[in-house]
Amino acid sequence: MFSVAKRVLFALDPETAHNATLSMLHLGRRLGVLATTPLTSSGKITLAGLSFPNRVGLAGGMDKNGVLLDSWAHFGFGFAELGTVTPRPQSGNEKPRMFRLLSDQAIINRMGFNNLGIEHLVEQFKKRNHNGFILGANLGKNKVTANEDAEADYIEGMRKLYLYADYFTINISSPNTPELRELQDAHRIKSLVHTLCMVRDELPIKRPVFIKLDPDTDSTDLPYILEAILQAGADGIIATNTTTRRPNQLKSPQANQAGGLSGEPLFEIALKRVAEIRAFTGSGFPLMGVGGINSVQRGQQMLEAGADLIQVYSGFVFKGPTLIKDLGLSLPKTKTS
Ligand SMILES: Cc1cc2nc3c(=O)[nH]c(=O)nc-3n(C[C@H](O)[C@H](O)[C@H](O)COP(=O)(O)O)c2cc1C
Repeated sequence: MFSVAKRVLFALDPETAHNATLSMLHLGRRLGVLATTPLTSSGKITLAGLSFPNRVGLAGGMDKNGVLLDSWAHFGFGFAELGTVTPRPQSGNEKPRMFRLLSDQAIINRMGFNNLGIEHLVEQFKKRNHNGFILGANLGKNKVTANEDAEADYIEGMRKLYLYADYFTINISSPNTPELRELQDAHRIKSLVHTLCMVRDELPIKRPVFIKLDPDTDSTDLPYILEAILQAGADGIIATNTTTRRPNQLKSPQANQAGGLSGEPLFEIALKRVAEIRAFTGSGFPLMGVGGINSVQRGQQMLEAGADLIQVYSGFVFKGPTLIKDLGLSLPKTKTS
């Protein structure tokens, strides 16, 4: 079934294929043919105060407007991160802005947070079921918001969604919003995360706040950033976003497109970053690993490197639901490393 759909969809331009898939799945949700009860074997995984049915989540960016909500459970995911959402709707960068690197099993995108805005996502979140599937909200800032004013955009996202989202991801690592990554600077991140954690603590329901990092920051700067995140009181880290690097092995003609690279060639880079983060934080600090996971073996490697949970985007595009179900069923409930 997936291989037939893939043949048809891969004949289309990637963004058209993406939108067509979401529209079809949306129809499936409305007709009630998609399961919303998550795949779970025995026991749940507790992390940052949340109870996850399995270790595999949908990464940010696939469902920016919350089209499918908890219907992502149908494909084996235990959780999904909706967004990135910005306070006001925005159209994103000029098309084409998504490129399939078939021979590299990779994607390059420079979408630029195209989304329908926070009010729309709130209305979507209101339709969710509460049946054990975890739904996070991935928050960004509008392109027109200066970095100096960025915290207000993230705060708005938290205040409008805290009733409905199980956790927040603060996205300061997309390469496709000009200067966004500068918010990862140790001083800036400390003040930003500190402010957001104060907002978190004042909200009537305390939702964990994860910080999503890039894979490209120099390893020598990383300890300062991590120290700042820990001191400021964040609940966890997600690593990594897409990379602006272009590893030598890339073969596809599209490899030089501008934007963030994800999928197969990102795996080793993301794995190393997750291991560096875990080495710094020690055990017990919630960490999600994402980047190039396209097999059960790679999922296991990510856990061994220190991730508690994993997220998948490109692997789902290339390998389909079988990958997610295999990951969901085979990754251990209890972690030894
Ligand atoms: C087309 C596309 C759009 C993305 N949009 C977002 C986004 O809006 N917010 C975000 O945090 N990450 C976004 N990402 C990054 C993914 O969440 C993930 O971090 C990255 O793709 C690495 O995982 P993967 O190798 O499994 O794809 C996007 C990735 C792709 C391919």
